[in-house]
Amino acid sequence: MKRREFLLGSGAAAGTMGLGGLGLASGPQELVIQPASFALRDQVTEGMVSLSPNAPPPVLYGTQGEEMRLKVRNTLPDYTAMHWHGLRIANKMDGVPYLTQMPMGEGEAFDYEFTPPDAGTYWYHPHCMTMAQMAHGLTGVMVIAEAEDPGFDSEQVINLRDFRLDEDGAFLPAFTPRGAARAGTFGNVHTANWRRRPVYDHAAGGLVRLRVVNTDTTRIYKLNLDTAEARIIAWDGHPVDVVVPLPSAEAPLLLGPGQRVDFAVRMPEGEGQAVNLMAKLPGQPLRSMAGLRVVGASVARDLRELKPLTRNPIARPDLSSAELHEFVFGWTPEGGAPNNGFCGSLGYNFWSINRMPWPGDAAQNVGPLATLERGKSYVLRLRNESPNLHPIHLHGLAFVPIKSNLRRLPPLVTDTMLLLKDEMVEIALVADNPGDWAFHCHVIEHQKTGLTGFIRVV
Ligand code: C2O
Ligand code: CU
Ligand code: CU
Repeated sequence: MKRREFLLGSGAAAGTMGLGGLGLASGPQELVIQPASFALRDQVTEGMVSLSPNAPPPVLYGTQGEEMRLKVRNTLPDYTAMHWHGLRIANKMDGVPYLTQMPMGEGEAFDYEFTPPDAGTYWYHPHCMTMAQMAHGLTGVMVIAEAEDPGFDSEQVINLRDFRLDEDGAFLPAFTPRGAARAGTFGNVHTANWRRRPVYDHAAGGLVRLRVVNTDTTRIYKLNLDTAEARIIAWDGHPVDVVVPLPSAEAPLLLGPGQRVDFAVRMPEGEGQAVNLMAKLPGQPLRSMAGLRVVGASVARDLRELKPLTRNPIARPDLSSAELHEFVFGWTPEGGAPNNGFCGSLGYNFWSINRMPWPGDAAQNVGPLATLERGKSYVLRLRNESPNLHPIHLHGLAFVPIKSNLRRLPPLVTDTMLLLKDEMVEIALVADNPGDWAFHCHVIEHQKTGLTGFIRVV
């Protein structure tokens, strides 16, 4: 089997059972960052970035509690570093340039070795030249399987993202300063697994685990399924153990950049019927982003046959002893541009945390936004003083929202909190993973123009 065939998992409808631990026997799995081309529109788009020449970044499979060894090799002239979004792993494997490793130049490789403590849906993307490489395609999904099979008939990964292309399928600039200073710059070609409205076959009457991942650089998707025979079973990787209502066209789910939702879907019975993942994009009618199409004779499953997923080993914060830290996200009056060293600057500062724009990936002697003591509980108060939404992401730790000034938030374990306009949310966590953990907005234009910092756990 050639390595490309071995890696191709992206968008595949095939069940993933048995793929966990891929590559372990024969040394590390090699991921080669390289130029790619693909027909995102009718014409082939050149200048993409992926891990193979003609395909999206593959789904990477691992198993909870089993070591993964991923050798990332950079063949691009630009620097890079790879980050594993949502995985609570050792700090030195986190892939953040200057903070946890040096950027990798052309021809260099880095051996990422870690044991995912949690099962669920995660993803990977570069954290150096982040805007350029993500906008050109380098965002992939990671599936960490439960040690025990949860009993689905099949699985479907949907990697949602936009591309900014001109009529001929060539890349437009990834951002505009106007966009970066506001909600971000949106793509105009909407894809799932790099395709427009792909359709995947699944067994009639079967139970599908649908893993939806927003890897876009900017867009907050408003999603729903066009079936009532479904349930949300995990949120940002972690099993949901409270009842979360199924989103509808009238009350869609907001999924910000970096966020994931897993549905259990019971397929209809009739040949040719389908279940669609619907999105409401501004100024457009509700549209299907991807479809699951019924094939074959019914396997006659029932959603009630699924046992709840096993909780991940997340420590529950003790609110009675938790110390409070405050963070304000907003514009910056300062102007200037961050010093991003080898990792690319957008050339502006528009945003800040606690009124200080991030001095840049390569800045020297920059202190943490907060220092937390290992093993202690904390409440972080996150306040958005801007009119734009911000998916605030913390590396290396998982947290639970406990209150908001605007809405009731279910206590779902997460790594990315979507802050609404004028919203103040308190999140709680146990600081149980030592290291310097990046803390930033996942609208990449905000991240790269000041809305970044880090939290230290000692
Ligand atoms: Cu998904 Cu700091 O990243
Ligand atoms: Cu991350
Ligand atoms: Cu933001």
